[in-house]
Amino acid sequence: MSDTQHAIRDTQLNIVAGFYNYADVQALERYLAGSGVTILSAVQDAQRAFDDAINLEADAVLLCPQVTGYRHQMVMDLLLHVERPIPTVGLVEATSDDGRAMVANGAKGFVTLPLDEVQGAKVVTLLRAAVDEAGKERQAGQVKARAVPSSRLQAWQEKVVTIWVPKGGGSTRTTLAVNLAVALSHASLGNQPVCLLDFDMAKGDAHTMLGFTANPDHARRRGWPLLERGLFDLVTWTASRWGQQGEGAITPVMLRNYTVRWGEDSQLDLLPGLYAPHQADAREFDNRQMVYQMGRRIVEVVRQMYAFVIIDVGQDFTRPLHRAALEAANEVLVTVPPTWTAVVDAANAMPPLKHRFGDLSKFKLVLTRYSPDFGLSEKEIIQEVGLTRLVTIPHDAVVAETSINTHTPFVLTDEGPLGEAVRELAATYLPYLAEKRRRTSLFAGLRRALVREV
Ligand SMILES: Nc1ncnc2c1ncn2[C@@H]1O[C@H](COP(=O)(O)OP(=O)(O)OP(=O)(O)O)[C@@H](O)[C@H]1O
Ligand SMILES: [Mg+2]
Repeated sequence: MSDTQHAIRDTQLNIVAGFYNYADVQALERYLAGSGVTILSAVQDAQRAFDDAINLEADAVLLCPQVTGYRHQMVMDLLLHVERPIPTVGLVEATSDDGRAMVANGAKGFVTLPLDEVQGAKVVTLLRAAVDEAGKERQAGQVKARAVPSSRLQAWQEKVVTIWVPKGGGSTRTTLAVNLAVALSHASLGNQPVCLLDFDMAKGDAHTMLGFTANPDHARRRGWPLLERGLFDLVTWTASRWGQQGEGAITPVMLRNYTVRWGEDSQLDLLPGLYAPHQADAREFDNRQMVYQMGRRIVEVVRQMYAFVIIDVGQDFTRPLHRAALEAANEVLVTVPPTWTAVVDAANAMPPLKHRFGDLSKFKLVLTRYSPDFGLSEKEIIQEVGLTRLVTIPHDAVVAETSINTHTPFVLTDEGPLGEAVRELAATYLPYLAEKRRRTSLFAGLRRALVREV
């Protein structure tokens, strides 16, 4: 054994463990006893594992992909962490393919559950080898640290994005929700499974923008896909079982009965919203607490099933589904057009919102259908609303209306500033793409491919 190998064996390693079953942590502690590997923190949530690994200066992460909110992206984000590489070793079910998937995404190996003598010994060896290898890679410059813009450092975990503004009609909420969802789910851009939830309690439009219809006559005459059910049916069905089952009635399998797949080359599923305004007046919607709980539960279930959940809601944040969507969101995009009424409404909503949420850091301003010709400067709007601006989406009525009328989200077709702005916004949720875009012309290549495809 060489001196360096001795040194590696003898170094004290500190790790963060992300686990699913508490029994696994107990077993792990047994096998790590006396090995020089210490568990700094054991958590059941990917976000916390990620934060702890960085903040507690862990040497490595031992991670079960069943932890809440896990995404493969996290493995690379830790490995490419600017200050020092933090390698991940998988902790996976022996019967699953998860270990190989994790390794394909940058993990330095995996051990299988349940932990026994063999796997227990392997944990220690693998963790030491992982730290060694990651350190050498970094030194040799093979794996470069990636400086993610600090505001987007944890973009990978912003899974639930709600689009909202306290102003109706023409605020481009649905337009943005649809285009963002399509971009993230589309093969040549994000290619992530995405669920678009239409939670607008006044009336939903997302399905119409995507070319579905609830009108049998339209379906027959125009050949548009006919929706059989949507949010209304989901709420009434669940309400009928609420007494016995409560929120347990809402499961992944059950939700799949209500979603529809959009497009062949995307992984976008849509939960169609209320077809007609009178649906929101149904008896079931009078029970606000129940509808709110249903909303929270639906989001909780779909966030486990998809890489991203995009939620389109209506203007009144006190209505139960809107409230559920705002509370469950990791990020809320507040779309404000350059119209004084919209700016004032948004500004006036901030104090009550702050009262409710305590902290508005997850609310981001999106200046939408913006043109300086309308007489309000970007600066004025930002100051008035008082939120951090994420992006400015330019005004282009021709592109926006044509896109709706042809059922083709402009994010897939428009090479002009409007399409570009929304693709750039989508890319900020995909740190790799954002980074590639800055470093090379790969993003431009992807964009060309994307635009050509359609
Ligand atoms: N960037 C843009 N430039 C110009 N017009 C736009 C732009 N984006 C969207 N629009 C137009 O704004 C209109 C309203 O959009 P949308 O339905 O998305 O708003 P909304 O806030 O969801 O409204 P509501 O839910 O109250 O019906 C549409 O006609 C759309 O074409
Ligand atoms: Mg809308």
